[in-house]
Amino acid sequence: MKLDSLIPAPLRRPAKPGEGDGAKGAAPADLKTSPPERPSDAQRLGSRAKDAPADALAWVDQRTGATGFVTGMLFRKVPKGTNWFYTLGSATLFAFIVQAVTGVFLAMFYVPSSTEAYASISHINNDVFLGAFVHGMHKWGSSVMVILIFLHMGRTFFFGAYKYPRELNWVIGVVLLVLTMTMAFTGYLLPFDQRSFWASVVGININGTGPVVGPYLSDFLRAGPELGATTLSRFYSIHMLLLPGAIIALIGAHMYLVVKLGTTAPPWLRAEKPKGAAPLAQLDAGAKGDGGGPSR
Ligand code: HEM
Repeated sequence: MKLDSLIPAPLRRPAKPGEGDGAKGAAPADLKTSPPERPSDAQRLGSRAKDAPADALAWVDQRTGATGFVTGMLFRKVPKGTNWFYTLGSATLFAFIVQAVTGVFLAMFYVPSSTEAYASISHINNDVFLGAFVHGMHKWGSSVMVILIFLHMGRTFFFGAYKYPRELNWVIGVVLLVLTMTMAFTGYLLPFDQRSFWASVVGININGTGPVVGPYLSDFLRAGPELGATTLSRFYSIHMLLLPGAIIALIGAHMYLVVKLGTTAPPWLRAEKPKGAAPLAQLDAGAKGDGGGPSR
């Protein structure tokens, strides 16, 4: 597709004489003997179809003004020295999107019941088209997201990005970290096999050792005297509804602040001297020379 077709017709640069197609083409030498060819219906339809995507975008833009927002997001200035470590946040975001998409497909077949959960996962792995692949992506993707979020947090910490004015974004990030870990923890129980069952027993007991809120937290997570059907339902609803909603909202706030505040320059770069500033020695000389200026 030519780039032109992405630009709404009124905004396109007009073709130079002799270039382009249709009525804007080279003028025929003799209009009487060879009048310009009128485009056929099919040609007209073709050119309108070519304009359709740009027209649709222009239609949405006129009603939402979204281009300002999108160009602000995509064409931000970034500080000098921005490097590969700055991609870790976007990589975490990508991992989250993969988890969300694969999770939707798994939810089409998963049954959150203590008697059927394991069978439904076996069904996904053995019978459903690409089921094992999607399940594998979700399972390994959870570890990938946890690793990436820690690396991203390390980057922002070592680059001093938690300092003024980005403290709030750091705090939002800490909440995102806790929610991501809770996502991984609640998801682990869902296959309801021996490993996930006993790992969750251990995890819930560890939560119970926390100060003050620990015992309440483990009671809340267990949802009963022993880990069982109610625990599975509770983990499922937290994993499927509560946490994704909260994470999406917080990622929105996180991104808003990244765009609003911009990213930090690497700490080893020193601020540049403003261009055109005269060296101090010259200023001093000037002050002495004219006799009247204030001396430093
Ligand atoms: C779902 C999890 C997260 C996502 C999707 C995410 C995404 C991003 C993205 C895309 C950026 C801009 C590019 C970059 O610097 O990498 C960013 C910046 C930032 N993130 Fe995160 N992040 C997440 C979690 C966290 C965590 C756990 C922390 C820290 C506790 C954190 C703290 C920050 C800070 C302070 C910035 C500003 C960096 C700067 O100004 O240079 N984020 N985040």
